[in-house]
Amino acid sequence: MGVNTLTGEGLAQALMGAQVVVDVANSPSFEDKAALEFFERSGHNLLAAEAAAGVQHHVALSVVGTDRLLASGYFRAKMAQENLIKASKIPYTILRATQFFEFVSAIAQSAIEGQMVRLSPALFQPVASDDVAAALADVAVENPLNGTIELAGPEQIRLDEFVRLFFRATRDARKVVTDVHARYFGLELNDQSLTPGDNPRIGSIHFEDWLKRSLS
Ligand SMILES: NC(=O)c1ccc[n+]([C@@H]2O[C@H](COP(=O)([O-])OP(=O)(O)OC[C@H]3O[C@@H](n4cnc5c(N)ncnc54)[C@H](OP(=O)(O)O)[C@@H]3O)[C@@H](O)[C@H]2O)c1
Repeated sequence: MGVNTLTGEGLAQALMGAQVVVDVANSPSFEDKAALEFFERSGHNLLAAEAAAGVQHHVALSVVGTDRLLASGYFRAKMAQENLIKASKIPYTILRATQFFEFVSAIAQSAIEGQMVRLSPALFQPVASDDVAAALADVAVENPLNGTIELAGPEQIRLDEFVRLFFRATRDARKVVTDVHARYFGLELNDQSLTPGDNPRIGSIHFEDWLKRSLS
């Protein structure tokens, strides 16, 4: 059934009889104001509809490091989404995931300068979206934590190297230039910016295997 979290259209019907809601919607625009409006309005509409329907567990997908990345409007919007969830009376679990493998071309696209891509060598720990879906399914049938857990992929890699591997595998001739000051969606990164804390859940799919599988 189609729903529009931004307008609230279809929410009441979709939530009828639901015990758990898993919110994986994303703002169509990453522009500061549009993203904030999306996550505030959607969060408000969704949580109000859940309260009316008697939903027992709100599961939301967020991003590892959101609270460290608030110089970016997108992450301020994600923080606003998380704060609305924490302020509501509905029991919740927030799953903060690292960047999806599937996001690799968007990362490259965001850093294009002519025929090259300028990227930070910051460490991160990306994850396959299949692992994210599996973790969300597990969380959805567990008791609400009223807290936040993290999910990351099985290995750490540097952002510039990640895109280099992707370009090599896809025979993309563009050069990846390493620059410690290169911005990631407006942010300068260090090795702690995007990496998870001490005890993240860990996905099972390795980037190399994902690459082979997605290109075959
Ligand atoms: N991508 C990453 O690397 C990453 C990493 C960690 C966490 N996350 C989080 O994961 C979530 C999903 O990200 P994504 O990259 O999977 O996003 P995505 O590929 O852009 O998908 C966004 C989804 O949101 C839906 N949507 C957009 N506007 C909507 C509206 N008004 N009402 C209802 N649904 C709407 C879209 O539905 P339609 O297809 O019908 O338009 C689409 O299914 C976001 O909260 C993001 O912050 C993403």
